[in-house]
Amino acid sequence: MKYEEKSMEHIIAFAKSKGFVYPSSEIYDGFAGAYDFGPRGVELARAIKRQWWKDMVDVHPHVYGLDSTIVSHPEVWVASGHVGGFSDPLADCRVCQSRIRVDKALEAVGVSADEKMSEEVINKLFDTKRDEIACPSCGSKDFTEARAFNMLVTSNLGDFTSDNSNPTYLRGETAQGIFINFKNVVDSIHPKIPFGIAQIGKAFRNEISPRQFLFRTREFEQMEMQYFVEPGTDAPAYEEWKEKRWNSLLALGLSADNLRWNQHDNLVFYAKDAWDIEYNYPDYGFDEMEGLHMRGDYDLSQHAQHSGKELVFNDNGNKFVPHVVETSVGMGRLFLAVLSEAYDKEELEDGDERTVLRFAPHIAPTQVAIMPLMKKDGLAEIAQEVFAACAPNFRTTYDESGSVGKRYRRQDEIGTPLCVTVDYDTKEDNTVTVRNRDTMEQARVSIDELHKYLESALR
Ligand code: GAP
Repeated sequence: MKYEEKSMEHIIAFAKSKGFVYPSSEIYDGFAGAYDFGPRGVELARAIKRQWWKDMVDVHPHVYGLDSTIVSHPEVWVASGHVGGFSDPLADCRVCQSRIRVDKALEAVGVSADEKMSEEVINKLFDTKRDEIACPSCGSKDFTEARAFNMLVTSNLGDFTSDNSNPTYLRGETAQGIFINFKNVVDSIHPKIPFGIAQIGKAFRNEISPRQFLFRTREFEQMEMQYFVEPGTDAPAYEEWKEKRWNSLLALGLSADNLRWNQHDNLVFYAKDAWDIEYNYPDYGFDEMEGLHMRGDYDLSQHAQHSGKELVFNDNGNKFVPHVVETSVGMGRLFLAVLSEAYDKEELEDGDERTVLRFAPHIAPTQVAIMPLMKKDGLAEIAQEVFAACAPNFRTTYDESGSVGKRYRRQDEIGTPLCVTVDYDTKEDNTVTVRNRDTMEQARVSIDELHKYLESALR
């Protein structure tokens, strides 16, 4: 199918029906801004995260992994600037008290706006368009001024005051866990500069209007890397990581036509330069999938000031506060791009239509399906042995119900790149049929050679 024909509504329904993504708390009529990953979704998500870790940590001996807590000392978020400046511009409907995000409402009527604009600037724009912006709940156009609404999610973890007057915060970005461990990593690992610290973990934001499926949720997973460099060397490091991230996205199966760069006009409080990689989501169009930021020495300096600890790098007596280049991608947004890109419907020669998820083989939730042609005549037993040999090495499933044709279709629908069929010839010559999801071509492979064959085809 042509990319323009893809519909997010279909993809969302399909993702639920095939066990990729379920709306959270559905038996209680749902919970806005939250989604659960089903059996197939969790495998795809893990494969995406595994590949990110490989690209960012495994192949770079000077990038180190970290797993910091979701809740930390509340001063972390004061120092980082999030308590003071991490906000969206919201206005209240005076009739029904619903809240709208003014930057999004302005964009919907064709005005370029974003959440980083000052209250003054956004209110000026808002005033020019008040007659065109209606409350989505009651239709009124009577709104208050836009005010900055903080997106940090507060928690009472560790706060035993009766009125939660010393709140802690669920992290708004994983990056701060990296900055507050900078000294620990330097003192324990003794890295040479430049070096990176990478982390995958949950982040939380009180988004006023979570929308567009996995694109904007209140709980989401980030994959972030902070690259610490000597001041003055930020620019080449930034260019290097921009190129690496772009190439990693292509290697995940995203097409260059559906990716583009967008430089920010208005910078968030910590950034000196910021570029997004946008993906062309079906129906939603191009929107931010990944952000790359030059954060300078902002975060380390802020934490040094607030903690009273020296956060510097000592390069043979030359002490300085490193500058930071950041790469940050939301797992959910990347998952949605991968799923959208892979989703396809194809008319076959016999007039049938098949739905197929064309995942890159190395991230497919199931990589191999083992199936006996028939359950009888000892074929199932051989197929189970083949399954047992493959399962520790590849994401493998076993399927013996229905006709082989139907089983192939089922595997196409969940994006399994290879199906291995055990048939009567197997008993004669110890070979199996390997059927390719995309070409639907079949090859005869010896069971003894199967491991090598799969390893090379699923790379
Ligand atoms: N540490 C930098 C940072 O957090 P950001 O641009 O606010 O920068 C980085 O977020 C990435 O996190 C985004 O490009 C997006 O992929 C993801 N992200 C941010 N907010 C999100 C949300 N509400 N739902 C899903 N993903 C989100």
